[in-house]
Amino acid sequence: MSGLRFFPEAASTLAPGVDDLFLFLILLSLFFGLLVAGMIVVFMVKYRRRDDDERAPEIHGSLALEALWMGIPLAIALGIFAWGASLYAAIRRPPNDALRVNVVGKQWMWKVQHLEGKREINELHVPVGRAVELVMTSEDVIHSFFVPAFRVKMDVVPGRYSSMWFEATRAGTYHLFCAEYCGTLHSEMIGHIVAMDPADFQAWLAGSQPGGPAVSMADAGRAIFETQGCASCHTGDSPRGPSLAGIAGSQQKLADGQTVVVDDAYLRQSILDPSARVVAGYQPIMPTFQGLIGEEDLMRLIAYIRSLQSGGST
Ligand code: CUA
Repeated sequence: MSGLRFFPEAASTLAPGVDDLFLFLILLSLFFGLLVAGMIVVFMVKYRRRDDDERAPEIHGSLALEALWMGIPLAIALGIFAWGASLYAAIRRPPNDALRVNVVGKQWMWKVQHLEGKREINELHVPVGRAVELVMTSEDVIHSFFVPAFRVKMDVVPGRYSSMWFEATRAGTYHLFCAEYCGTLHSEMIGHIVAMDPADFQAWLAGSQPGGPAVSMADAGRAIFETQGCASCHTGDSPRGPSLAGIAGSQQKLADGQTVVVDDAYLRQSILDPSARVVAGYQPIMPTFQGLIGEEDLMRLIAYIRSLQSGGST
């Protein structure tokens, strides 16, 4: 039996929980499937017609029996719902200290950049024993980031950020697939996740890469911030635009009275469609940067804004 595998390798903290639920559903289905099939066979034999004018006795129902066969499936279904929902919540909610890594999908490759600046294509290096959150988007069509060994899969959608997280438990190399049909070479949009011991990962992160030394995403973002002229309005006391220091993660009151949490999605929207949700006290005068800044540069710009602490000058 050792060569026969019912599950892919399990190498993340989420994997055992997903496997347990999956196994439970399989066994439950098997139990009821065999029960029904077995009873059909038993009743066929036991209640077969024994002579030509045999008549079955009439039965007028039983409240207890009916309550039972509604009650048991209801309890089981609610149990599955509660189990699945709690697992879903755990999978959807990354721990606060998760390491952020940016991923951009395009036909037909995965482009990855770490905050420290290191870039890779169709590979993702992560440390073992540390939660990693992927912030992902697509440059063209819908893709889906799927790592079977981690039991995680998330659609990567153009025009918005989606995220997923995992924590690798064992060093090794694991398959990465695109799990959403995205055109001719969809089947070749594959790669590897390389889970490394934390010390090895730090060494890898600091290592050289083709094209010169790695510039951190925040530094690259600052360069974009300056060349695009963002600083002319987004300085501390400009009446034209709010200061961006400490704005990431904060709550802001909008011109229409609503409040918004300044997350990646809001920052992204405010760069590409600035008039959509203007912070209270400011006019919708900012021009759009749609088409001027690509997805990867947007992520760098957001990394820069996130790096600005409150009390800073910009
Ligand atoms: Cu990308 Cu399929």
